[in-house]
Amino acid sequence: MKRFEILSKRMLNDNITWLVISAPLVARKAKPGQFIILRTDEYGERIPLTMAGHDSKKGTIDLIYAAVGRTTMLMDQLEVGDCFADIVGPLGKPTEMEGLKKVCVVGGGTGNALAYPLAKGMHDAGIEVDMITGFKNKDLVILQDEFKAGTDNLYLVTDDGTAGEKMFTTVKLEELIAAGNDYDEIVAVGPPIMMKFTCEIAQKHGIKSIASLTAYMIDGTGMCGGCRCNIGGEDKFVCVDGPDFDGSLVDWDELIQRSAYYSDQEKYDREHVCR
Ligand code: FES
Repeated sequence: MKRFEILSKRMLNDNITWLVISAPLVARKAKPGQFIILRTDEYGERIPLTMAGHDSKKGTIDLIYAAVGRTTMLMDQLEVGDCFADIVGPLGKPTEMEGLKKVCVVGGGTGNALAYPLAKGMHDAGIEVDMITGFKNKDLVILQDEFKAGTDNLYLVTDDGTAGEKMFTTVKLEELIAAGNDYDEIVAVGPPIMMKFTCEIAQKHGIKSIASLTAYMIDGTGMCGGCRCNIGGEDKFVCVDGPDFDGSLVDWDELIQRSAYYSDQEKYDREHVCR
């Protein structure tokens, strides 16, 4: 087994891939909610990816990613036996679980890939987990078998009703709360706008909310400021203070604005560099 070697590669749908990678030192210390930063080659950009799982005995980590930018598209071209130039981690704070008895995890789109280790980690820790997985349509649905095995109750919704129930995740969440589910916490993982509305529902019902944020990162150590976000009026860094934050304290408007900073560059890369 070579360092950072791809040991298995599985397509979950046309756009989302699950890799198992040799990284014994990372696997030994990894906990749910933490992430790594990788480079495909020595000239590559550094991108953060939440670990979808790890096996400390085998010395492997699992990464699930959507091919949406330059590096993830390059990753798609790698095959079993290829190696990454470097992987740094585990980074970030593990998900806090102490004192929780029942939670609802709400995953939106590719955010479900990040929600999976979190929901499973909580379930494995003995917490009752209701999982709402939301997608645009049936072609984008992923990880249903894994969620079924790794949570207590699984709900599938799609925007167009081609799989599961036709509704948004927020509507399903309102339904579950109205049905009398007494959640200690609601965890949102997905596009910022979906997390914003999910956390607002939690707040409305007096339930604690946690948002698992993603951000542009460079060093992953709190030095570069690339992943800065505003939490309760204070500057925080997703890489060292997060990725989980109290959803009621996140400045969602600023976060949504920052997450669109490089959209032109990403579009250019998709159309010209990664073809
Ligand atoms: Fe540089 Fe977080 S990645 S401060």
